[in-house]
Amino acid sequence: MAHDAQKMVFEPGGPLRGTVTIPGDKSISHRSLMFSALAVGESRVSGLLEGEDVLSTAAAMRALGAQIERGADGMWRIHGVGVGGLIQPVTALDMGNSGTSTRLLMGLLASHRITATFIGDVSLSRRPMGRITDPLGLMGATFMTSPGGRLPLTMTGLVPAVPIEYRLPVASAQVKSAILLAGLNAPGITRVIEPIPTRDHSERMLRGFGADLTVDVGNDGTRHIAIRGEAELKPQTLVVPGDPSSAAFPVVAALITPGSDVTVTNVGMNPTRTGIFKMLQAMGADLSFANEREVGGEPVADIVARYGPLTGIDVPPDVAPSMIDEFPVFFVAASFAKGRTSASGLDELRVKESDRLALMAKNLARIGARVEERADGLIIDGTDGAPLDGGNPAPTIGAELDHRIAMSFAVAGQATKGGLAIDDMSPVATSFPGFVDLLRTLKGEPS
Ligand code: S3P
Repeated sequence: MAHDAQKMVFEPGGPLRGTVTIPGDKSISHRSLMFSALAVGESRVSGLLEGEDVLSTAAAMRALGAQIERGADGMWRIHGVGVGGLIQPVTALDMGNSGTSTRLLMGLLASHRITATFIGDVSLSRRPMGRITDPLGLMGATFMTSPGGRLPLTMTGLVPAVPIEYRLPVASAQVKSAILLAGLNAPGITRVIEPIPTRDHSERMLRGFGADLTVDVGNDGTRHIAIRGEAELKPQTLVVPGDPSSAAFPVVAALITPGSDVTVTNVGMNPTRTGIFKMLQAMGADLSFANEREVGGEPVADIVARYGPLTGIDVPPDVAPSMIDEFPVFFVAASFAKGRTSASGLDELRVKESDRLALMAKNLARIGARVEERADGLIIDGTDGAPLDGGNPAPTIGAELDHRIAMSFAVAGQATKGGLAIDDMSPVATSFPGFVDLLRTLKGEPS
């Protein structure tokens, strides 16, 4: 989607106080639409994230034959076509900024007799797709990619696709999910072996839709996931919990702004997603979890975050997948901790919506943080609660079309002496519509 750049200034303010609700989980929202589109009959989804990434998935599923409508009550109704029932799209599938839409849909189409072209924005067109085209190629799909195996690309699926057993070479829920989705319409059993656990929404939800999917965990923690193909999915009524990745922004803003006391309600607490909260607690953050319950097969809680001192930690590399999208805002928190925080094993951060290690290191340094960039991580020496200097004039941060970089620096502006500007906040609409208003509300400013 093309945007006019939205430059915005973020100045310290607050304390942050109040109770807020964040939009629905992005990963679960994408999957809700895709899996419902493969069930026979009408599924209903409430709490869906109505961000641009998920709307890209909705548009693509419509182009592939599903009927998808949003009621005035916010309920989404999806009439699925059945596994194997997707149709040839007439035009290219525009994935905008969304890696999840692209990679999961490529999986779906790999076992359909469909030729489709995927296009996306500049950020998405830089991201690697070989991790998807390699296993899907083994299943029989063929690809014509741009140089480097990137978008724009055209693929043709195969029916019947070849079921495979595949050991993930990178810890990626997107790769895992793409293979499982291709396996849905392949004869026999498709297996994914996952040495390091990643978010398990696909497994939980596919089982909920009635797929024959098993997960065996070996003694070394390796997960063996098997799905029986030519499945029949039954329509579901789904409730999407709030996105922990979005909750992390107001939580960190509260932790670094003196006097703050913020509650974020209805946050998904799936253990494959909550590394950020565990690591912040390990730094001494005043976080508590209230009203713990289960919503739509996922654990959910309200998070209470209060300002207080943070102490630097070494983040164990095996925690990385459970907070992979939260490192940018975690690095902001670390910039205000007492002592050193180090994180390694984060090569994947270089191939997200931007090179998040490089961009965080460069821009944190610009606002006065002491940060060292390593090949696979960052080392940050925090200010022990003191604000960052920022610079005079206040710097403008280039977010490079990365929503989480933009939101992380909006949060950092809370504790940067003269505030800062962000060159373009428009990408925030991909995952967190209403973010700027929510921050203003917590600061007690008119939104
Ligand atoms: C996602 C998986 C992660 C994450 C992304 C969403 C998903 O990507 O960064 O925002 O919904 O499966 P990887 O699979 O590339 O780690």
